[in-house]
Amino acid sequence: MARITASVYTSHVPAIGAAMDLGKTQEDYWKPLFAGYDFSRQWMKDHKPDVIFLVYNDHATAFSLDLIPTFAIGTAAQYQPADEGWGPRPVPVVQGHPELASHIAQSVIQQDFDLTIVNKMDVDHGLTVPLSLMCGEQHPQTGAWPCPVIPFAVNVVQYPVPSGRRCFQLGQAIRRAVESYDEDLNVHIWGTGGMSHQLQGARAGLINREWDNAWLDKLINDPASCADTPHIDYVREAGSEGIELVMWLIARGAMADVAGGPAPKVAHRFYHVPASNTAVGHLILEN
Ligand code: DHB
Ligand code: FE
Repeated sequence: MARITASVYTSHVPAIGAAMDLGKTQEDYWKPLFAGYDFSRQWMKDHKPDVIFLVYNDHATAFSLDLIPTFAIGTAAQYQPADEGWGPRPVPVVQGHPELASHIAQSVIQQDFDLTIVNKMDVDHGLTVPLSLMCGEQHPQTGAWPCPVIPFAVNVVQYPVPSGRRCFQLGQAIRRAVESYDEDLNVHIWGTGGMSHQLQGARAGLINREWDNAWLDKLINDPASCADTPHIDYVREAGSEGIELVMWLIARGAMADVAGGPAPKVAHRFYHVPASNTAVGHLILEN
């Protein structure tokens, strides 16, 4: 059977991708940020997954106000890096896993989560920046990501967005779906976006180190109560884009302890301010 062996959590700032693509990672501003991922890149090599189930949000790239799926699962064979205004990032095409993705769609929809099925979409910084952070520089033609990726897009851009509780329950359903797949696959689930940031309005630039770290503690140690965090708390405490954090609860809900197993091991924890306008948080949890 397939199993979820680990979850990874990381912010997804577009300027991080640009710093990598333009060779600026050793500049004073960026060096401490990338140093926080040295462990993670080695960990990825030592714990190479067969598939990454990557929970992220699209930023009006594949979707727009014309069409707003709350939860969308990518069932395609490939996903092109999107052009977000400066041309597509020079990174490899993302290979999908249509068989496992279709199985998860079938299982999760039968568990009463009404997913949107996506057979064609480009993937923006929400997906490619976490891959770059965790896997390092990859040449667009001669390089490759370490394994197939199932993109899972969550609407955190246009209200009404899903509750943390709903995301947490969805993670539990995804775990059951993965465990009902016959092939022996090592699956990682990633929750991305956050932490505190606000890109607009009078509070643009807001960062809340204390709240972010208290929320991380809760995510690790008491995920069910973390899932009860109301939307207004994210917006008030972590800024308007802090709501991206509900996506981390999908990954956390898929960990073994939520289904009665042992507590996860915290393999790595990192926090850094600032990266562009964002507080970067990062966790690796092992089952
Ligand atoms: C920034 C952060 C984001 O999460 C995003 O989607 C776009 C920009 C930023 O801090 O610049
Ligand atoms: Fe974002």
